[in-house]
Amino acid sequence: MKAIEVTDAGFAYEKGLPVIRNLSLSIEEGESVGLIGANGCGKSTLMKMLSGLIGHEGSIRICGTEVEKKNLAQIRKQLGYVFQDSDSQLFMPTVFDDMAFAPRNYGMGKEDVEKAVDEALERTGITHLKYKQNYKMSGGEKRMACIATILAMRPEIVLMDEPSITLDPYNRRTLIRNLNDMKETKLIASHDLDMILETCERVILMDGSGIRADGDAEHILKDKALLEECHLELPFCLQEYTLKRRK
Ligand SMILES: Nc1ncnc2c1ncn2[C@@H]1O[C@H](COP(=O)(O)OP(=O)(O)OP(=O)(O)O)[C@@H](O)[C@H]1O
Ligand SMILES: [Mg+2]
Repeated sequence: MKAIEVTDAGFAYEKGLPVIRNLSLSIEEGESVGLIGANGCGKSTLMKMLSGLIGHEGSIRICGTEVEKKNLAQIRKQLGYVFQDSDSQLFMPTVFDDMAFAPRNYGMGKEDVEKAVDEALERTGITHLKYKQNYKMSGGEKRMACIATILAMRPEIVLMDEPSITLDPYNRRTLIRNLNDMKETKLIASHDLDMILETCERVILMDGSGIRADGDAEHILKDKALLEECHLELPFCLQEYTLKRRK
């Protein structure tokens, strides 16, 4: 069974102006896939469609279950989604409250909730923020809290929308290590192409009209002409300037 299967999917925020059209893709269990493309090409929209936050035309299946209203409770247990905007994700007073919210809702007992929260805090290196009030956190601290919140849910599939945004180099490195350690199926939308290169074996490149390329991460991320056509650039580590400085 595919972890994610999308067939001829479409979505328009405004009638007659589709953002996603006839999009099909499938992701196997355990795959780590980077989702790249210029600002406004539809990466976040696709993630919202996959998680059922917005509707869609066509078919979307998560672990074989169709994404539709009656299945959303089950799908949200299987699929964790780190939003692009941390403030839209954190809605409880403290980090602990946010992290415990979903596990509690799934009927996990008090001790198990504590354990799931503590494990996720430790993995992300933010145990010191456990009882911090959300509105008192910095941008990067909020980012790490959002990631920890999703890890505490122990989902089978993780969607991460710009996970490394606002992170300092140390926390970005922790994130990359976590991503590489995770056995879960991952779809990671990002403009941090160096992180994508380090964490994904496959890349899906979107442009205004849908999927422009889908294949081996290194192959796509080394294709300067293709990336530039899509308003992107080579990852920093592959740019001539960086390579020259390293010599
Ligand atoms: N709520 C909304 N109502 C109307 N249009 C929207 C809405 N949200 C997004 N859009 C439009 O849909 C298109 C796709 O937006 P989306 O957020 O999916 O892009 P993205 O690829 O995630 O971009 P970025 O790299 O900037 O995060 C954009 O043209 C955007 O202006
Ligand atoms: Mg986006």
